Amino acid sequence: VPTGRIVVAVDGPSGSGKSTVSRRLAAALDARYLDTGAMYRAVTWAVLSSGVDPTDTDAVAKIAGEIELTIGTDPTAPHIAADGTLLDAEIRGPRVTAAVSAVAAVPAVRQTLVAMQRGIIAAAERIVVEGRDIGTVVASDAELKVYLTASADARARRRSAEYATDVSATAADLARRDRLDSTRPVDPLQQAPDAVVLDTTEMGIDEAVERLRDLLQGRVGA
Ligand code: DC
Repeated sequence: VPTGRIVVAVDGPSGSGKSTVSRRLAAALDARYLDTGAMYRAVTWAVLSSGVDPTDTDAVAKIAGEIELTIGTDPTAPHIAADGTLLDAEIRGPRVTAAVSAVAAVPAVRQTLVAMQRGIIAAAERIVVEGRDIGTVVASDAELKVYLTASADARARRRSAEYATDVSATAADLARRDRLDSTRPVDPLQQAPDAVVLDTTEMGIDEAVERLRDLLQGRVGA
């Protein structure tokens, strides 16, 4: 295990293997783990539960500013709560998934969450952070930036296996979300110029984690 301060930024589209790879890498490095997507999902859950229209930018921004998010960063048991209510299951449901891209496109929501994310990162000795704008915006000085990707087919198959949903409906949903996340004006999903690209279409989790550990060893010289 290397020593010293380490921030690893992991970005990529849905179903690329980001969460599994990031958690496993964090555990292997004895590091914290931050799932920034869970934060956007928790705000979306709060928006929907208060009956606010996810496209009502001002109302959505107000909710993001008011809710109190609590995030546990243990890679073996990450947790998220809003105003004291644990939301780990709720935020993975289809209603939140359908609305999250709209909420994540609101600049004031991003401002609030990016500030929180930077605070969590600054307080950690070492941390693996996953999302869409980590290497480009949130932690642009990360020791290692990774862009995980996989074919649209492979991503849809993984997601439908994970959530027991129909493959073609899942593929359509992923395509819609990726398009929204990549084309929004503020901090879209983007490959950082200095990111290492890993295509996991034909790569197992173990192999991906191993590759990243090797890369990190090369970078931080430990
Ligand atoms: O990784 P995920 O599927 O849980 O992310 C949910 C949504 O949140 C995703 O569609 C885009 C958004 N998101 C974002 O805009 N920026 C991040 N850093 C992480 C997620």
